[in-house]
Amino acid sequence: MSASSVSGIDLPDNIGNAMSYKDEKRKPDLYESEDVVKLDFQNINGTTIEDVQRLLVMHNQFEDFRKLMMEYECAISEVRTKLDVLNAEMSLRTDRNPFESIKVRLKSPISIYEKMERRGYPFTVKSIRDNLHDIAGIRVVCSFIDDIYKLRDYLLGQDDVTLVEEKDYIANPKPNGYRSLHIIIEIPVFMVEGKVLRRVEVQFRTIAMDFWASLEHKLKYKKDIENAETIIEELAISADMVNQLDRRMQQIREKIDGNSLKEENV
Ligand code: GTP
Ligand code: MG
Repeated sequence: MSASSVSGIDLPDNIGNAMSYKDEKRKPDLYESEDVVKLDFQNINGTTIEDVQRLLVMHNQFEDFRKLMMEYECAISEVRTKLDVLNAEMSLRTDRNPFESIKVRLKSPISIYEKMERRGYPFTVKSIRDNLHDIAGIRVVCSFIDDIYKLRDYLLGQDDVTLVEEKDYIANPKPNGYRSLHIIIEIPVFMVEGKVLRRVEVQFRTIAMDFWASLEHKLKYKKDIENAETIIEELAISADMVNQLDRRMQQIREKIDGNSLKEENV
């Protein structure tokens, strides 16, 4: 078994990659992890990465876990390609990119462990597969709100994509002001021994919503913050402003589009 090393622990390649994210203690937004940072020590509520690894080995689940993670990595690539294809075609038609950026992330083993514990599920590969829908994550950042819904519709219109769950926090924002469209989809991944269906969480948001969410995320995981109440209020007000800005930008774009259509007809 080939091995990589994280914090001096010898790990098989795949699991090593999956674990090589930023310090989980501070609960980073893994989509924001640009660089692969090696962990000094992972510890959530006293559970270390070694504990998680030991648990998997103890239950003879280590290889199955690696395989499952690999399948989710492939599922991410599949959905990413689908979105890239849509982006290419839509930009040919409209002369602009429907999305500005895509970020992907695979949930780290320690986060998987922590979520399973929190929800009271047994830490087995079958249970992870059945109960967690966001191991594979893709965040699509668009310029305009209407592009979010177009991308969603085109993606869900594809034969091999099944919608499992949808949360429209754009139409129904969270009380804190959070806006984004979340869908969980299931897609086939073709392995040597046949097809497996895997779930991927896709989050769509505008650039402005993304900007807001990254700042709000900082508040969520920072302890002992001064004037938290005021900050929460300011964030809620800013979320409304972000929404107004998004809608205005779209109206302006529609006017510009309308004008260029008129020009074409001259
Ligand atoms: P978890 O997946 O356990 O978080 O619960 P859930 O399935 O009910 O979550 P939901 O679909 O509402 O959100 C999943 C993801 O969306 C989170 O992991 C974040 O990336 C993002 N998200 C949701 N709500 C917020 C929020 O209020 N602020 C920010 N910054 N991000 C959020
Ligand atoms: Mg979720």
